Amino acid sequence: MANAWKMPLGCKLALFMAQTGTIVDRGLEGVVVNHTNLSNVEGQIGRLTYRGYDINELAPNACFEEVCHLLLFGQLPTTKELSSIKTRLATRRMLPEPLLNGMLRLPLTAWPMDVLRTIVSGLALFSPVNPHGEHVSDENTAIELIAQVPTIVAAWDRIRRGLEPIEPRHDLSQAANFLYMRTGKVPDEIHQTALDTYLVLLADHSFNASTFSARVTASTRADIYAAVTSAVATLEGDLHGGAPSKVMTMLLEIGKPKRSETYVRQLLARGERVMGMGHREYKVRDPRAQHLEKMAKALGGAEDRRWYQIARALEDAASKVLHEEKPGRPIYANVEFYTAPTLYSLGIPSDEFTCVFACGRIAGWTAHILEQLKDNRLIRPQATYSGPEVHTFVPIEARGNGKHP
Ligand code: COA
Repeated sequence: MANAWKMPLGCKLALFMAQTGTIVDRGLEGVVVNHTNLSNVEGQIGRLTYRGYDINELAPNACFEEVCHLLLFGQLPTTKELSSIKTRLATRRMLPEPLLNGMLRLPLTAWPMDVLRTIVSGLALFSPVNPHGEHVSDENTAIELIAQVPTIVAAWDRIRRGLEPIEPRHDLSQAANFLYMRTGKVPDEIHQTALDTYLVLLADHSFNASTFSARVTASTRADIYAAVTSAVATLEGDLHGGAPSKVMTMLLEIGKPKRSETYVRQLLARGERVMGMGHREYKVRDPRAQHLEKMAKALGGAEDRRWYQIARALEDAASKVLHEEKPGRPIYANVEFYTAPTLYSLGIPSDEFTCVFACGRIAGWTAHILEQLKDNRLIRPQATYSGPEVHTFVPIEARGNGKHP
């Protein structure tokens, strides 16, 4: 029998196991596991919609709070509903005091994603439980989590720099308040808009790895805190939410736009990947990339266009070289590519990019968890066993210290 684990990396790992008639697809590529009303990724035409609204219309016209309402309650809010969700978010931003005090005792070298994962899990300790020890998983808890994740990220940003955390404000949007909690200054309009647009673009993306992980956890009837903790843990890898930090590393190493092509050729020659390029679903350029590209360009303004210019040159070089070296493979810029120059231009250090991704995706995660819980079925796939055949157990006394039996 072909051993799936020994297949060369990178080839499509959907094997037809002739002996058993079982289809094995290690990446679940193209496998449909459920329905969702929340978002739709149409990879062939490069369209992303949230509950039927095209991201190209939402990004320039809707704020993050409107998108939270759309995902959690099923429709875009009226003026009154928008004001209500803004107030609910704004008044739930504070972290429980003991949790914040606990953060002050963490090693200052702790990686921001480790801190976020730990403290998100810790939020459950301060949420009421019923006599069976269960937390309530509903829209209210979802709003609380959406409100508090940015507070954790901003508080750790300051603590690790030796600064006092800043209390959240009630009169600012999610985006403006996040930037305010990092610096103590209300951000300019252009910075607020850029981050708000980023949060809108990142809010949901169907059954991506972290969302799927949240749904798997929720499907066991675990609560929303457990499911969000799974999602944060799954987001961190560089094939998912960890990519933009690596994109920034590339931009910093390249230093000048004209060095891009040589850099890409050397990277591929070492067998590495160009971060921020390629996508499991999109066979064309990720529709979110154009909005982030515009943001990165606008943030550079007249003064420091460096990061945008290097990113632009890198995308051109990567597209050209990947087209030559992987003919027939549709590898284009994904959402993470221009996330890097956008967030960096907002003054956010690259090792916090994944945490900022979580500040947007928490809207989608919570909406998916509630959708899963409303019509639940345990998610439990199978695997074909490829280990040794059944054989007799040898007791410890008979095993001796020599070779394994
Ligand atoms: N750089 C170089 N080669 C790439 C590539 C990239 N960014 N993305 C895909 N490829 C190549 C692979 O090397 C492989 O080539 P091979 O068949 O010659 O071995 C082929 O394209 C298919 O790759 P595979 O990993 O099977 O595709 P996938 O559908 O699982 O890939 C990603 C999706 C996102 C994991 C992949 O494109 C990637 O690793 N991108 C970089 C990381 C990134 O940006 N992640 C954020 C995603 S939003």
